[in-house]
Amino acid sequence: MGTMEGLRVLECERCPALVDGRSQIVNGTGPEDADLLFVGEGPGESEDRQGEPFVGRSGSVLDDALRDVGLSRADVRITNCVRCRPPGNRDPTKEELNNCRGYLEREIDLVEPDLIVTLGKVPGEHLLDRSVAVTKEAGDVVDARLGGASRRVLISVHPAATLYDRSQAETFEDAIRRAAEIAGATEGDGGQSSLGDY
Ligand code: URA
Repeated sequence: MGTMEGLRVLECERCPALVDGRSQIVNGTGPEDADLLFVGEGPGESEDRQGEPFVGRSGSVLDDALRDVGLSRADVRITNCVRCRPPGNRDPTKEELNNCRGYLEREIDLVEPDLIVTLGKVPGEHLLDRSVAVTKEAGDVVDARLGGASRRVLISVHPAATLYDRSQAETFEDAIRRAAEIAGATEGDGGQSSLGDY
């Protein structure tokens, strides 16, 4: 393993191809006690440059969908299956996914989200450890053993899919609405919901 400080990976050299191509390691952002944890595939070009997940075009789609349900980035945690940009935006390999898995599981263990939302096929299949038909299964909530516990996972299409297909936009927005409802509904401790009125 590389070096971690809290939820942040400071140094890691496990994936030679990613180490060669990256500008920096892109760690998760958002509250360390967030109710909702979004998991993408891996950093793209904008993320690699800015050091933050989902800050490019996919990020705007995610921001818009969150805003539509009364949330903002500040309310949720956002991370990726791999923290270094795969060259040319190719999919991360199985080996790269597995190299980075410990960091993701540690993040899940420490954040303890009420719900994990997988954004796209790669995170869906990685976290559920089976093949996933994302468009068909979008909105489904399933349990998965992750890190030290069983977690609830909501399957979603990737926000980038909406850029090419309007029907995917609806599928995506419906999944985000469902996620907000579930996370809001689990605020059962009498405290003020940090998720606001979705
Ligand atoms: N796509 C992802 O899967 N993750 C990002 O951080 C950006 C785009």
